[in-house]
Amino acid sequence: MPIRLLSATLIDQIAAGEVIERPASVVKELLENALDAGARRVEIEIEQGGLGLIRVRDDGVGIAAAELPLALQRHATSKIATLEDLEAVASLGFRGEALPSMGAVARLRICSRTGEAHAGTELKVEGGEAGKAQPASHPPGTTVEVRELFYNVPARRKFVRTEPTEFGHILRTVERLALAAPAVAIRLRHNGRQSLELPAAQDAAGRDERVARILGADFLARCLPILQDGAMQLSGWLGLPTAARANSDGQFWFVNGRAVRDRLLGNAARLGYRDVLYHGRHPAYVLDLRLDPRLVDVNAHPAKLELRFRDSRAVHDYVFRAVERALAASAAGTGPAPAVQVGAAPQAQSRRFHFDAPQGAAAWSRSVFGAAEALRVDEPAPHANLAASAEERPLGTAIAQLHGLFVLAQNRAGLVLVDMHAAHERVLYESFKLQHAAGAPAAQRLLEPMALNAAEHEIDALLVAAGDFSRLGFEIDRLSPTQLAVRAVPAMLAGADLPALLREVLRDLAGERGAHHLDGAAHRVLGTLACRSAIHAHRRLSLPEMDALLRQMEATERSGQCNHGRPTWAQLSLAELDRLFLRGR
Ligand SMILES: Nc1ncnc2c1ncn2[C@@H]1O[C@H](COP(=O)(O)OP(=O)(O)OP(=O)(O)O)[C@@H](O)[C@H]1O
Ligand SMILES: [Mg+2]
Repeated sequence: MPIRLLSATLIDQIAAGEVIERPASVVKELLENALDAGARRVEIEIEQGGLGLIRVRDDGVGIAAAELPLALQRHATSKIATLEDLEAVASLGFRGEALPSMGAVARLRICSRTGEAHAGTELKVEGGEAGKAQPASHPPGTTVEVRELFYNVPARRKFVRTEPTEFGHILRTVERLALAAPAVAIRLRHNGRQSLELPAAQDAAGRDERVARILGADFLARCLPILQDGAMQLSGWLGLPTAARANSDGQFWFVNGRAVRDRLLGNAARLGYRDVLYHGRHPAYVLDLRLDPRLVDVNAHPAKLELRFRDSRAVHDYVFRAVERALAASAAGTGPAPAVQVGAAPQAQSRRFHFDAPQGAAAWSRSVFGAAEALRVDEPAPHANLAASAEERPLGTAIAQLHGLFVLAQNRAGLVLVDMHAAHERVLYESFKLQHAAGAPAAQRLLEPMALNAAEHEIDALLVAAGDFSRLGFEIDRLSPTQLAVRAVPAMLAGADLPALLREVLRDLAGERGAHHLDGAAHRVLGTLACRSAIHAHRRLSLPEMDALLRQMEATERSGQCNHGRPTWAQLSLAELDRLFLRGR
């Protein structure tokens, strides 16, 4: 075949292949145009999953009658004019491609009116051919209708899924953009039925309300606000680890107000959660990164979903640290308390205590390294005094221990329940991490080296992590394939039943049972140590010991969740207790 120029229609259809993948892509482009036009309210009407009709009506600035034909031409845009504009794009669109692409693969009608015009103007496009502009009645703003998408590109139509699937994509697209533009009222209808009605948010409460509508009230109740300033700015809502999900549907990223899906940002956030999330769980969040537009290239993807950062390393580190710092604030007693739901189905509330050491009760109390050491009670103040002041503390005053599993405490709000092992494990883990990071462990030499027999593969696994053990203050040598000599241990383990503790650590390391952290061999060793050193079930605690645990929790970062991302404490308020007993009715 000789070389020839393609027809304008075919060029548009090829371009449309990149921009318009499915009905949701049309909705995205039209909604973005409406937002760029400064709309306060947008109404979206969908029929048959977007294959029958997509209609988007806005009350934005509109298009002047004389410019309307131009809006439908390729490479025609009002949003940028020069290369400098392109390098600092602030609008969602800039390619001048969306409307002509739709015109090439669907029947399109656009009707628009500016604030100054007395009437609207209408234009239709069929098979890539634009008709003549006609006067039409329309309030200020713009309406675009896209009918019979892909009617003239059967190959593309084959890739379209069922109506519910396509509408699902549309709904998620609208939700994503709605999170980026809380001040704009948005309504979405499908086949005449209302699917989403989002009022314009006037203030912070309104923005919270929108987040709750889209991610669920449960997310809002279990999230931390984040606002980190600096060279860049990161703001939004960080779901607590206890609100993590089985998939990544609850993750929303915006860069300078543009909804994006970006691996780098996703990875940085995941790293920020690494210490507080159970393996395989996905955090939920809504995050908006603001930075100088010249530092990010949005022209990296036809649908503008992906970005290129000029300094990706700096962005990654900034986001990772901002998320990690914000989550560190989730000490027990701060932020939203995991509420106990009175009257909920019993299995929904019961948390089974997880304990996997196959030993008898006698061994348990031995394997605890002196709880008195771990839960040091600094000044055994007269208890009456303690009660008066401690009640003001977030986690209150300990009043009892329940079934050797839970600490009950009384605070201002009512009753606090603490999962004693999970909470202590977190407290120890954070303290081990601090010591490890400081790199100067307080070690204690044993008077006589302790010999320990273990399976060869267990010792192999331990030696892989030898560096981490020595950084913690251990001094361990291999005497034979199946024997270790322990010469020194971290000072804080001095009172522990070392053989039992080390044997458990060895078993965990070899069996990967301790792999509840997202990464980092060092943190795994620390996590295993913490889990194995934490007070175990059925260990009786005195009231001062329990109070000491509460105070340590309050002072420990991330102590609101255990190392597996489960809550460590819950609050039962007086009002909830009243309801439970039908008081005051
Ligand atoms: N809803 C609208 N309200 C006002 N003007 C609009 C609207 N939709 C489109 N326009 C005008 O038509 C032009 C072309 O729109 P189109 O979406 O094709 O390109 P773009 O938004 O400039 O760039 P992109 O292809 O990246 O979306 C826009 O630049 C804008 O001037
Ligand atoms: Mg556009």
